[in-house]
Amino acid sequence: MRVLHSIAEMKEERRKLRGTVGFVPTMGYLHEGHLELVRVARAENQHVVVSIFVNPTQFGPKEDYASYPRDTERDLAMLKKEKVGIVFMPGAEDMYPARYSTWVDVEKVSERLEGAVRPGHFRGVATVVAKLFNIVEPTKAYFGQKDAQQLVVVKKMVTDLNMNLEVITVPTVREPDGLAMSSRNVYLSPQERKSALVLYKALTLAQTLWDKGQTNADLIRREMTALIESEPRVAGIDYVSIADAETLEELPRIDRSALVSLAVKIGKPRLIDNIILAS
Ligand code: PAJ
Repeated sequence: MRVLHSIAEMKEERRKLRGTVGFVPTMGYLHEGHLELVRVARAENQHVVVSIFVNPTQFGPKEDYASYPRDTERDLAMLKKEKVGIVFMPGAEDMYPARYSTWVDVEKVSERLEGAVRPGHFRGVATVVAKLFNIVEPTKAYFGQKDAQQLVVVKKMVTDLNMNLEVITVPTVREPDGLAMSSRNVYLSPQERKSALVLYKALTLAQTLWDKGQTNADLIRREMTALIESEPRVAGIDYVSIADAETLEELPRIDRSALVSLAVKIGKPRLIDNIILAS
């Protein structure tokens, strides 16, 4: 496994690769969710490149960039076990040198849900992902359904900018009890960890109501919200959304594929999760 720290080295190594390249962008502090992306990428490609870069431009001024969990040694050991060929770990000064000034703004789908609560977040994501795609030049890039809106934004960017790669969606990997795996789960106290299950319970409730024939999105949102509010240690709900899976516009009635997503603060940590109701 080669660990490359500069953009120039990565580009040079890329030039030497023949055949298909699967790419998994991450911010590190890896867990089974990330490893699942790596495994799918390895099964479908001759080479696998994983990037680890905690991207400063996608964190708001009051967010957790400085304290975002990092453990490079552990990450590299995990990736070695998965037989990854190249790990790309650029420095922030290499990615964003002085007077850096070019941004990718995917309008509309970036403005809702996470974008409404975290202004500028998806501008940072789209920009770093576009840069990484230009540096790594992957055949296919792998993203988790866990970050559903990120996938919508990245897919739209690739289509709109005619980028030469395929974006692959990998289903959300969950803990045995249903909690979606996330690097931020380490912030949860043991009691908060128990309360955090309410996100999955609320999604399961939506699925059950939908399976029984309920198509009234307002009613499902209200039932989900009531369930979440009944949980101790829930410090706030940012949104409970049932939206068109492509445009992310809120639906009054579920008459097409719908993304059911939510963002909830459990104590200090803020967790997100989602499911798709396919019509
Ligand atoms: P990060 O949060 O490290 O996630 C990297 C990738 O792992 C994303 O595609 C994310 O959706 C996926 N992932 C995280 N948890 C998952 C789970 N439980 N199951 C399946 N996949 C999961 O997302 C980012 O980093 C950044 O925004 C990035 C795309 C790297 C740009 O900076």
